[in-house]
Amino acid sequence: MAIEDSNHLFLRACLRQPVNRTPVWIMRQAGRYLPEYRQVRAQAGDFLALCKNPELATTVTLQPVERFGRFGLDAAILFSDILVIPEAMGQNLRFSTGEGPLLEPPLTRAAEIEKLRRPDPETDLGFVMQAVDEIRRILNDRVPLIGFSGSPWTLATYMVEGGSSKTFSRIKGMLYDAPDTLHRLQDRLVDCVADYLNAQIRHGAQAVQIFDTWGGVLSPRDFREFSLTPMARIVERLDRIGSDGQRVPVILFAKGCGAFLEEMASTGCDVLGIDWTTDLGKARRRVGVSTALQGNMDPALLYASEDRIRQEVRELLEAFGPHPGHIFNLGHGMAPDMDPDRLAILLTAVAEESSRIHRDTKS
Ligand code: CP3
Repeated sequence: MAIEDSNHLFLRACLRQPVNRTPVWIMRQAGRYLPEYRQVRAQAGDFLALCKNPELATTVTLQPVERFGRFGLDAAILFSDILVIPEAMGQNLRFSTGEGPLLEPPLTRAAEIEKLRRPDPETDLGFVMQAVDEIRRILNDRVPLIGFSGSPWTLATYMVEGGSSKTFSRIKGMLYDAPDTLHRLQDRLVDCVADYLNAQIRHGAQAVQIFDTWGGVLSPRDFREFSLTPMARIVERLDRIGSDGQRVPVILFAKGCGAFLEEMASTGCDVLGIDWTTDLGKARRRVGVSTALQGNMDPALLYASEDRIRQEVRELLEAFGPHPGHIFNLGHGMAPDMDPDRLAILLTAVAEESSRIHRDTKS
């Protein structure tokens, strides 16, 4: 089936083709806010065991798609984590309760970076590829499957800090005092991420998103050098035709990077994911017709009342206007304390309000 004939609203919107309502998916749509997720996670033992079990990873990938039904989510996202790459490169990965992810030992010296492996995604990350195969099989084309990876900069922050950080002191120290060492690490990560995403595409991922969660902690000069350039090199190397002969859109999501939309669009990506600190209407006018936009509701809206959720959804859709190329999403992921029923309200509002906007423009 050619993409032009595809009835997948999500893929159509990524390629800026006309749609009769705005497609929606939600970052971290599978996760702890869902009781059915918590149950499967307990069955797996822990989070990493869940990621490494293709059958259970498939189950939790599909949970939000099934829960919210037909006018719910217009795409599934592979259930995994960005940190499986550093683990496959040779660092030890643990998720400790309270502290978040730990990568040990933290990378501090050039010699340690030289020792990192270039994983073969088919074997070293075979559990991810099996999950992609299985999810596509069970989805049976109901909605498209999004694959993903962390960006080289975001992965490097976890690898050099040894986990999450508030100050980024180690990696910033490396950036200023040993930029060549950081470039060596980035070069390695460009290879690994490109290999990994191409493998996901071969196995059936129908779009891919690169998460640059920590791009926003860099100065403009450093963002260009240490985050944007490596991402652009990856975009260039991705296979843009998928396993079923359709174009595979590439989404760049760089949090806190609203100032760089034009530069991010010039990487050749199809879609820019934006957070809620950027005005969606202005963003559309800035990137013009080159690139679709994904986002960008403040996730905290899900703590608000039903009326308020509807009103904000309507305003966001109207800010983008009746143009092609919008995928509705939050500006960042779901939090564990959010109520799935509020998300259902938001999804219904997106379907109803966007159908109205698209209908009104036609008549
Ligand atoms: O969006 C989805 O539904 C797909 C699944 C997904 C997860 N992580 C599952 C997950 C995706 C796309 C990610 C990406 C990811 N992982 C990012 C980039 C996206 C972002 O949020 O900006 C980052 C920075 C990570 C690293 C990571 N993994 C962190 C910082 C944590 C939080 C630790 C904690 O205890 O909250 C994780 C764990 C994680 N990844 C969970 C889930 C559902 C929670 C794990 C659990 O069940 O306890």
